[in-house]
Amino acid sequence: MILQLPEFKMVYGDTGVGNPILFIHGYPLSRKIWAPQTGGLKRTARILTPDLRGFGKSTLGLKKSELESASMDLFASDCIAFLDALNITQPVTVCGLSMGGYIALALLHLYPERVAGLVLTATKASADSLEAKTNREKAVALVKHNGPQAIAESMLPKMLAPGTYQARPELVDRVRRIMSIASVGGIISALHGMKNRPDSTPWLPHINKPTLIIHGTDDQLIPLREAESMTALIPNSELVVLPNAGHLLNLEQPALFNKAVRKFQKRLSVP
Ligand code: MLT
Repeated sequence: MILQLPEFKMVYGDTGVGNPILFIHGYPLSRKIWAPQTGGLKRTARILTPDLRGFGKSTLGLKKSELESASMDLFASDCIAFLDALNITQPVTVCGLSMGGYIALALLHLYPERVAGLVLTATKASADSLEAKTNREKAVALVKHNGPQAIAESMLPKMLAPGTYQARPELVDRVRRIMSIASVGGIISALHGMKNRPDSTPWLPHINKPTLIIHGTDDQLIPLREAESMTALIPNSELVVLPNAGHLLNLEQPALFNKAVRKFQKRLSVP
């Protein structure tokens, strides 16, 4: 489905029945990563899966001069414009994976009244280290010179658990294809947004929404200890650790992932 938002055209999925869950994908991915949730959770919730601007099939809607000032707040505001366009005014569950989690935290910060609960998946609250910021600059140069495929190839070896590469070559290919269609502008804007995002750690004790944190034992991009630190600091939070799962745990362990989200969503709907 396609929506014309004020600044860009957003392609999204909308299926299922129940209180909505907004799924926000990571970098440099698209709504396609949520296929096992779209199928497996559609009797639990209304499943909303937007392609963020510049990713998947959504257009970018930014001028070259605006790419450097893109922020997690911008992507969060796009998600709210998306909900508004669908006339969804009730608070929703916001589930973000990795960069999607940074965006979910920004969304909660800016629009707390729109959030019923938070699912933080393969993500962290801390800001980029100096080394990570330098790597963002290198990635900007790489995508400018060699295009999105080069970014996809550089990230692919870290996206899944080591064991998944041998066991599920078709999944590895699927992830490669999803990453390869991101646009140059989308990648650059997300890299700047991630590099400049604030440290949310001091704010975690003030989060007053039920929060589910899901992390894979074998996440090679964001270590499990980040999820453990968030769980220790967010008051009403619970950590679910998935075995044999890497950064894309919702694709690697879809049944366990969906079970945890289903249980959380049911808990939220009990008055
Ligand atoms: C993601 O998967 O969204 C990114 O790897 C997050 C990051 O680079 O910080």
